[in-house]
Amino acid sequence: MEFYVVLRYFESTNLLRTISMAIVSKKSQQQDDRIIASSSTEDKDANEFSLRPKSMSEYIGQSEVKKNLSVFIEAAKKRGDPLEHVLFHGPPGLGKTTLANILSKEMNVNIKTTAGPALEKQGDLAAILTNLKPNDILFIDEIHRLKAPVEEILYSAMEDFCLDIVIGKGPAARSMRLSLPKFTLVGATTKLSMLSSPLRDRFGNLIKLEFYKEDEIEQILERSSAIFGLTINDDACVRLAQSSRRTPRIANRLLKRVRDFATVYGDSDTINSAIVEQALAALGVDQLGLDNTDRQILHTIADKFRGGPVGLNTIAAATNEEQNTVEDIYEPYLLQLGFLERTPRGRVVTDRAYKHLGLVAPSQQTMLIAENQ
Ligand code: ADE
Repeated sequence: MEFYVVLRYFESTNLLRTISMAIVSKKSQQQDDRIIASSSTEDKDANEFSLRPKSMSEYIGQSEVKKNLSVFIEAAKKRGDPLEHVLFHGPPGLGKTTLANILSKEMNVNIKTTAGPALEKQGDLAAILTNLKPNDILFIDEIHRLKAPVEEILYSAMEDFCLDIVIGKGPAARSMRLSLPKFTLVGATTKLSMLSSPLRDRFGNLIKLEFYKEDEIEQILERSSAIFGLTINDDACVRLAQSSRRTPRIANRLLKRVRDFATVYGDSDTINSAIVEQALAALGVDQLGLDNTDRQILHTIADKFRGGPVGLNTIAAATNEEQNTVEDIYEPYLLQLGFLERTPRGRVVTDRAYKHLGLVAPSQQTMLIAENQ
């Protein structure tokens, strides 16, 4: 409505542009608090924030990614250009948000952070885009959850640094093109396949984050312990790393819980293997880092559905979890361990999973029967 009134009374493009920008940016002031400040859905743990590395040199693991990013950063800096748009993809907790923040530090530019579900209307994104400064980074977490109309205005913003917006409705509708400063969009997603190809194709760099190696997780645990002022014994560190699902976020969370146990039951400044074992047993986390829900998912398929195949929605209903949670949080690591397989007819547990659960796999049962006959 505001835009419509402006259009009717001011035919001069320049004036129109100035006033529209003012309206967009007035709205943006109100939205800023809500959208930009909204904490990333990736983690809301302030403590974890302090553990995050702030530079490439502090960052452990993902060595190929770091090497490539360092080249892109140096090249962009030498040319005085913004970085090309970057899309990070991979399972949660591997450092997508951390790397986005490191990019902004290394490039010496501001970063504005938001998330796909927080951008409800085109105006929400327009408000953020029109407030960017040259070379700024806009970080959109869970970018696969952008609504289609919001996503559409990203196309020209990314490609031509222009904002195409339609003002008004029906015969009075007009389209307007506002120019934007050159900026870098950094997107993060756990589901690359859910990104439309027009959006995916506009990223200059698609970067996949892999699960970490166990010795990298050990190094991260040592670094985090030092930040907390803790001494962690080598065997305790190895044991904790084994249960961290090769994921830094999980390693740091486990470390914090173990620290609680050390504070209450042990020497509050030292993490030894006895306190690690005590804490992991109390938390229900096993040698491979599986928790009660992981084991429940495997048991459900093995016991109730004779090993599968069984659909994701059935697993979710049977385990009282949301389908997205099973698919995004639990499955990737179970697949990685080779405990679960995805088939066109549904999920199947593998012989390895049966072994880990202390069960006899159906294939082994047939062999045992045959041997006994
Ligand atoms: N904390 C969380 N992730 C980290 C990483 N990749 N390197 C160092 N510390 C971390």
